[in-house]
Amino acid sequence: MQACLLGKQNGIPSGNWKDVIMNFELKTLDLKAAAGFNTDAVVVLLPTHFKPGRDPISQLVTKARANADLEDTVGKLLSIWHAEGVKAPRLVLVSTGEGSARSVRTATTAAIAALKSVNPKSIAVCMPDGTQQRVHAVVQAVSDASYVFTTTKPSAKASMLKRVVVGLPTLEKVKAVKSAFTTATALAQGVALAKEWGNRPANHATPTMLARAAQGLAKKSRIKCQVLGPKEVEKLGMGSFAAVAQGSSEPLRFIVLQYTGAAKTVAPTVLVGKGITFDTGGISLKPGPGMDEMKFDMCGAASVLGTFEALAALQPAINVVGLIPTCENMPSSNALKPGDVVTSMSGQTIEVLNTDAEGRLILCDALTYAKRFKPRAVIDIATLTGACVISLGHIRSGLFSPSDDLAQALMQAGEESMDLCWRLPLDEEYAEGLKSNFADVANVAGRDAGAVTAAKFLQRFAKDFPWAHLDIAGAAWKTGAAKGATGRPVGLLLHYLLRSKV
Ligand code: BES
Ligand code: MN
Ligand code: ZN
Repeated sequence: MQACLLGKQNGIPSGNWKDVIMNFELKTLDLKAAAGFNTDAVVVLLPTHFKPGRDPISQLVTKARANADLEDTVGKLLSIWHAEGVKAPRLVLVSTGEGSARSVRTATTAAIAALKSVNPKSIAVCMPDGTQQRVHAVVQAVSDASYVFTTTKPSAKASMLKRVVVGLPTLEKVKAVKSAFTTATALAQGVALAKEWGNRPANHATPTMLARAAQGLAKKSRIKCQVLGPKEVEKLGMGSFAAVAQGSSEPLRFIVLQYTGAAKTVAPTVLVGKGITFDTGGISLKPGPGMDEMKFDMCGAASVLGTFEALAALQPAINVVGLIPTCENMPSSNALKPGDVVTSMSGQTIEVLNTDAEGRLILCDALTYAKRFKPRAVIDIATLTGACVISLGHIRSGLFSPSDDLAQALMQAGEESMDLCWRLPLDEEYAEGLKSNFADVANVAGRDAGAVTAAKFLQRFAKDFPWAHLDIAGAAWKTGAAKGATGRPVGLLLHYLLRSKV
């Protein structure tokens, strides 16, 4: 991605999102060396079974534990200013309990939060018991907890963490975690890109800008990108996708990304990301409160871009295709109306009973397009339904697949990357409500099981290949004081893809 591609919008310089990416370094650093290490803050992750040495930090740990100043509960911490014998002005001792990856993530997040007010530019995180999973968790937690969005708020740059040293006590341990560290930093980069595009307001993330970001990715090794506009999309017969876009003066884009890391004969995995850059609901207009959050309705698309960013960094021997249908969903005199019937690329006609169920209308044509790649699997990723948020909240994404193997592999990838999902059903009875007197299918059923009926709609367009659908409506962003994109499910997707290597 080039700085120049991001350009200026409404006179606001949008900068280069890579400015906000921190530099991770893996180093041999035992606690003795950490005490003399030149950095703004040292964080020490302490498992229950920590064996103190004779160095100043170990002695502090022993004293703190003896005085009950440092509880052995995950995330409990002691923050010390100018600790005796420690060069860094701040020392944070934090408990990780038995040291599961999730505990390590919780503890690391707490430590970074404790340092927020000090605003460190560089930190060292010492892991006396570092393993692959724990190092992966630390890199993820540090980059998540210290992420700042600066594109439309350049003043936030002042609080950026620049350098992170992950320290393990011996060279053997460093060597043992090296590959996990590489994966984790590549993932952090991909997640940061997904967050960047997710967080951008819709006037800084139009379909055209999203397409330019994808073209920027194609400057990297093994990545190609093709961008189709309204004419090409019409020619392909994507009447459903085009119908959603017709209410906006922003032209639609259909983005085709290809990562070729294996022989051309190897069947690719296709990722399809929903790219609604703003969802007003269209003529079936959404209520006003909270509508700003519908700028996040392209987080599926952003997760595809983020996954390609990570693939570019890792260069695995697999083939991956990314498809992104992207447009705005707006009300206007040209807009799609409730009751309109459109013809999808598959030939199936669709009665649009609710223009706010637009995600499935753009995805169905992308799914039909996916067939030409003779894929080994197709996974679509979409902020598809409010109903999925009601079902699973913000913890797990909804997972749908008729294939047990694919569902199992995605579940496992979610666990591995701590980017969780949960399988929901696809029984044929759920499709009952999608019947229409005026078209092959309606775009909405009743209120009941809304996440499932949306998936049933998509399934009609995914009959020719193994398929899974991830509803990330609850996972893709946070609301409230911490409002912002999460970069999910880049972790899940990347881990799934890396495992698919034969
Ligand atoms: N983008 C929304 C889904 C959404 C809503 C995600 C709220 C996160 C929070 C989607 O396009 C939509 O509007 N879905 C409708 C479907 C309904 C009309 C059947 C919904 O969920 O309300
Ligand atoms: Mn909608
Ligand atoms: Zn939407």
